[in-house]
Amino acid sequence: MFEKDLLAGKRILITGGATGLGKSMGRRFLELGASLYICGRREQVLAEAAEELRSATGGTVKTFSCDVRDHARVEAMIEEFWQDGPLDVLVNNAAGNFLARTEDLSTGAFEAVIGIVLMGSIHATMACGRRWLKEGRQGNVLNISTTYAELGSGYVVPSAVAKAGVLALTRSLAVEWGRKGIRFNSIAPGAIPTEGAFSRLLPMKELESLAAKKNPLGRFGTHEELANLAAFLVSDLSGYINGEHITMDGGALLQGAGSFNYIGDRLTPEMWEAIKPKKKP
Ligand code: HXC
Ligand code: NAP
Repeated sequence: MFEKDLLAGKRILITGGATGLGKSMGRRFLELGASLYICGRREQVLAEAAEELRSATGGTVKTFSCDVRDHARVEAMIEEFWQDGPLDVLVNNAAGNFLARTEDLSTGAFEAVIGIVLMGSIHATMACGRRWLKEGRQGNVLNISTTYAELGSGYVVPSAVAKAGVLALTRSLAVEWGRKGIRFNSIAPGAIPTEGAFSRLLPMKELESLAAKKNPLGRFGTHEELANLAAFLVSDLSGYINGEHITMDGGALLQGAGSFNYIGDRLTPEMWEAIKPKKKP
């Protein structure tokens, strides 16, 4: 369904684009003709990812080592990338997260995650947004969120707080800057295997198989599924979609919402038969 030149001419920055979902989205954008810019804290990881992506796709990939918590460093990165020509799309994907009981967390733990996820997204959004506004250019920001951004979640509270903030940013600026031609959307993926997320959030094999099994579709999401949705949202095909938070989780979030969903795997076929209305003689 995607034309090979869908993203031709688009310059796209993905924060945290050297690993996991960021790298998979980058690969898809390159396949569809975009030029790619990626950042992360580890220079070696960035260099290896860029090489891998260039040789897989033949596309252009530039890197900048940057901690997105550092406002001045993000400004310097955007300034350097802008020298090639204005960026068209920003994907705020960099994140930090871990599983912990909230009462065990230090202030530093909150600051680390909120700094990366919320302040990092704000720094990159402001650096690109001010330039787009000044130059009167169209812009497009895609935030990679989570399904708990709207409703919260225990045991990942710094991340839940930060992702909720990013969702407020998405919806607020979709209106304020939408008027100036800058779109904002977010994707809330369900669990998709990556080393970064699974080593921190599903650190035991039993947790991993439980998570896959309890999904209505009985499996995790795939990198391709996320990358294709992201490609659509950063492309002009989705030009009238603005301010949306799009869940892609196999129905996992809804499963917790329906009052009777839990019954499905608790009633045996005999029990279902027993509660059927009796036929009138
Ligand atoms: C409690 C922890 C902790 C843990 C770190 N801290 N890990 N506290 N439990 N497991 C505390 C430290 O003690 C320290 O507190 C503070 O957090 C900062 O830790 P550092 O290691 O010094 O910081 P830093 O090097 O900046 O590391 C950031 C990080 C790390 C977030 C802690 O995990 C990281 O680099 N993550 C990047 C990749 C990542 O997390 N990917 C997963 C994204 S998945 P003090 O008090 O000493 O300062 C995702 C959504 C998944 O986001 C949804 C799935 C469905
Ligand atoms: P990941 O591979 O750990 O990705 C996180 C990336 O962010 C890494 O490349 C990391 O690179 C970078 N990063 C972390 N801290 C940074 C900082 N301070 N400055 C700059 N870059 C930083 O994990 P992932 O699973 O692909 O996650 C990608 C996104 O998807 C995140 O937003 C996450 O919340 C979201 N998500 C993932 C899942 C899932 O199941 N995988 C589900 C829902 C949402 P460095 O360490 O080199 O800096």
